[in-house]
Amino acid sequence: MRLSLISNTVWVLWFCCLSFATPTAADPGWSESELALLRMQWIGSLPELPPDPTNKYADNPVAAELGQKLFFDKRLSANGKVACASCHVPELSFTDGLARSKGVGETSRSAPSILGIAHSAWFFWDGRSDSLWSQALGPLESAVEHGGNRSQYARIVYRNPVYRKQYEQLFGALPDLSDSQRFPENAAPVEDEDAAVKWQRMSETDRKAITRVYVNIGKAIAAYERLLMPGVSRFDRYVETVLKEGAPETTLLSADELAGLRLFIGKAMCVTCHQGPLFTNNSFHNVGAPDLATKRPKYILPIFYLFIDKPELDTGRHKGVQQVLNSEFNCLNEYSDATENDCAELRFANKKQKETLGTFKVPTLRNITKTAPYMHEGQFKNLTELLKHYNAAPKAHVGHSELMPLNLEGKQLMQIEAFLHSLSSSPDVADELLRTPEY
Ligand code: HEC
Ligand code: HEC
Repeated sequence: MRLSLISNTVWVLWFCCLSFATPTAADPGWSESELALLRMQWIGSLPELPPDPTNKYADNPVAAELGQKLFFDKRLSANGKVACASCHVPELSFTDGLARSKGVGETSRSAPSILGIAHSAWFFWDGRSDSLWSQALGPLESAVEHGGNRSQYARIVYRNPVYRKQYEQLFGALPDLSDSQRFPENAAPVEDEDAAVKWQRMSETDRKAITRVYVNIGKAIAAYERLLMPGVSRFDRYVETVLKEGAPETTLLSADELAGLRLFIGKAMCVTCHQGPLFTNNSFHNVGAPDLATKRPKYILPIFYLFIDKPELDTGRHKGVQQVLNSEFNCLNEYSDATENDCAELRFANKKQKETLGTFKVPTLRNITKTAPYMHEGQFKNLTELLKHYNAAPKAHVGHSELMPLNLEGKQLMQIEAFLHSLSSSPDVADELLRTPEY
């Protein structure tokens, strides 16, 4: 795993030095420092996928095959209608077009794209998981997402001959789930009281046996997700030509898109956080996106609003870092295949309350035209609204915004928006990985 914080600091210092050398907007060419930034954002700079020491099966093709089936399987839910792919729709760059995702109930956040996600060290907007497999376990037992439980999922694998065969080939024999005395249906540490009581009555060994199957389901799904990468966009083809031929290529990007790109890596400073070939530094920042919990419903008069119980503010990473440290599924835990030395990212995570308050993980901007609405709660319907926010840099509702007003003109905001459109691409994934597999 990488120590993204250190590399970020080095990078920001480097950026500050370089920005003095940036030529004026009228200059048609790119300076050396700008070329270095373009190369950094180019998909060709995407490093090889780092290994995942927490998951022995991360790069196992059979695990990925099983994982794909599970990702698209609606039976893995309380009502038989929700799969991972219900909220991570391949055609929408693995998002769902909603401000707050809906499974068996409504969640409080928007589904992020998962293309290129395996390059991140943290998962969820608040990074409350530190591995792809432990992330996958969250929605499966969430009462508003899949709404099911680990005993139910273990049984699905046990009863389905295709699942069972692949599972046992990878992970060894399943426990004997036909013994319903030892393994009652729907027993799990979830909100549902009946399920929780049944879970408590099981022996510790049997609870662990079920949890192990649940973890392995997550590990197989993670192996599949590691294959999901974004493809080459018009922006990448532009950069490739510029780097190869040394002269600006003018047909791949329009004049407005080029001006937007110049602002993106220059005056608008977007690249300080949307940094690297996935347009994210995979770190946590506060950009003061409005917290919808602070919005007074129209039907309540202001004076009465003072006295009612308000929804909780979303503190983002502030709460997420505590959750990942306490998680039974983190890097240091018994279900992880990592050694302590592999868990530097978790051990040295920034726990400073002041610095983490109201920060969220920087999302990728690749395929941004397919992933509206934007931000962790879908606060902005479109890019025009979002860019107005960046331009004005209002005070944050939670913690302190790191943004400064950009004072850009309307035309310049339009140019940044135009540039963002050039980041679309088809996924760099075989077609058969983008749909329910046949079996
Ligand atoms: C009900 C809709 C829904 C379902 C079903 C769902 N997700 Fe998500 N997913 C979300 C939302 C919303 C978030 C962000 C939640 C948060 O940050 O609190 C998310 C976050 C993620 C992330 C983290 C992305 C990032 O940038 O860190 C991954 C990976 C992911 N989901 C994969 C899955 C997998 C695998 C499944 C199936 C086991 C799944 N999701 C099921 C809605 C859903
Ligand atoms: C200080 C770091 C930082 C800077 C600078 C920054 N961003 Fe962001 N960006 C973020 C974070 C963090 C989020 C998610 C915030 C949230 O959900 O509350 C985000 C979200 C976004 C999103 C929404 C993506 C999605 O899938 O929901 C877009 C689009 C975006 N930024 C574009 C830009 C542009 C364009 C600029 C420059 C004008 C910029 N950002 C500057 C950190 C930054």
